Amino acid sequence: MKPHVIAGLDIGSHSLKMVVAQKKEENGDIEILGVAQEPSSGVRRGAVVNGEELALKVLSLKQRVENLAAKKANRAVVNIGGSHITSITSHGIVAVSRADHQISPEDVERVIGAAQTFSLPSNKEILEAFPQQFSVDGEQGVKEPTGMKGVRLEADVIAVCAFSPYVKSLTDAVLSCDIEIEDIVPSPLSCSFSVLTSQQKELGVALLDFGAQTTNLAVFEEGELVHLAVFPVGSESITNDIAIGLRTEHDLAERIKKEFGTLGASRGKRQEKIDNPDGSLFTFPSKLLFHIVEARTKEIFQFVAKELKSIEKGGKLPAGVVLAGGGAKLPRLDEFAKKELKLPSRLGTPQGISTFETDPVFLGAMGLAMKGLEGLPRRTSVEESEILRKIKKLFKVFIP
Ligand SMILES: Nc1ncnc2c1ncn2[C@@H]1O[C@H](COP(=O)(O)OP(=O)(O)OP(=O)(O)O)[C@@H](O)[C@H]1O
Ligand SMILES: [Mg+2]
Repeated sequence: MKPHVIAGLDIGSHSLKMVVAQKKEENGDIEILGVAQEPSSGVRRGAVVNGEELALKVLSLKQRVENLAAKKANRAVVNIGGSHITSITSHGIVAVSRADHQISPEDVERVIGAAQTFSLPSNKEILEAFPQQFSVDGEQGVKEPTGMKGVRLEADVIAVCAFSPYVKSLTDAVLSCDIEIEDIVPSPLSCSFSVLTSQQKELGVALLDFGAQTTNLAVFEEGELVHLAVFPVGSESITNDIAIGLRTEHDLAERIKKEFGTLGASRGKRQEKIDNPDGSLFTFPSKLLFHIVEARTKEIFQFVAKELKSIEKGGKLPAGVVLAGGGAKLPRLDEFAKKELKLPSRLGTPQGISTFETDPVFLGAMGLAMKGLEGLPRRTSVEESEILRKIKKLFKVFIP
C-alpha cells in the first residue's frame, strides 16, 4: 500500500525549514525522507511582512527538499509565528440536546463553539480553540464528556488568536508556491509534536523554542495546552549585542556567537581570535563576550519566568522545560534554564520518529510534519478538507 507523505514547513525569521515525512501504512512508523533549510526573507519577528519575498524562498526550498526526498512536497502543515499570536481563555455553556440527556459529539462541538463567541477586534481572528476541561451539571474536570448524562454542558477553552493580515500574507505566499495547506499551527506548538511525550504533557511541561527573533513558550498540563506566548526577542538579539559590544560587523558577531558563545563559564583565555573576512585577525576579550551572552540570555529567561509566574506555574512543572530551536544550541543553555526558571531543563530530541537529523533547528518542521501525519487515514476528495474547515473557521464572524 502507498505510504502517506506530507511536508512540515517552518517559516522562521532567520531561516525557512522544510521536512518531508511519511507514515508507513504497515506499522504506522513515521520516517523523514528529506530535510532542507533556506535563509528567510519577508519575515520579521516571526510574522510575514512581505509575502512575495517569502514566496520566492519557499519555492526554492520546496524544489530542494523535493529533490532530496524524491517526493512531491505539495501538501504541508505550516506554522504561523509572531507576537501577534495570543491566547485567551474563555468559557462556553449549552443545554444537552438529546431527550435522554446523553451528551453527543455534536453537543461537545457546540459547547466548544459557544466558548469561542467572544468579541475580537475586526482584524483579529481565532486560529484554533483548545478545550481544557468540560463540566457536566457543575461537575468540573471532565476530559471526555461524550456519552455522559447531564442537562448542562460547559467548556473552558484556550482560543489562540492571530492578526488577520499576517495570516493572509502567510497563506497567500504558501498557496502561490503550489502547496496545499493541510493545517496552520501556532509557532509555539510546532515543536510540541516532535519533542514532547504524552507523559511530559500529562505531568506538566514548558516547551521553549529559542528562535532567532522570537522565543516561543507553550505550557501543557494534564495532557492539554494551558498557555502559550511569543516574545519578540531571540538568539539574534545576542548577535546584535555582540556586534555592538565588540564593535564588529553583524556577520562576524554571528560567527563569534556560534564559535565562542557559551553560558555558565568563560573559557578561561583572556583573549580569543577569529578570522576577519579580509584575512586579518579580530581579537576580543573572552570575558566580555561571556558577559554579553549571559546578560541577554538572562533577560530572555526573565520574560519566560515572569510569564510562567503569571499563570502560577513558576517552578511548578514536574516535567520541567524542554528547549528547541537554533538558539538552544548555545552551550550550557539547559543548565542556565534550570537555574533561571528553577525547573529541570533539557534539550529536546525527536520522539516517535526515525530520523538521522538531530539539529534542534529542524524540530519545528519535523513537528509540523508529524502533526500532518497524526490525523490519518488520509481524507478522500469528497470529505471536507482540513484547510477548508480551517479557512471557514478563520473567516467566521464572532458576534459579541
Ligand atoms: N551554535 C549556535 N549557538 C548559538 N546560537 C545558534 C547556534 N546555531 C544557530 N544559532 C542561532 O539560532 C537562530 C536560528 O534559529 P531558528 O532557525 O530556530 O530561528 P528561526 O526559526 O528562523 O526564527 P524565529 O523562530 O524566531 O522566527 C539564529 O539566531 C542563530 O544565530
Ligand atoms: Mg522558529
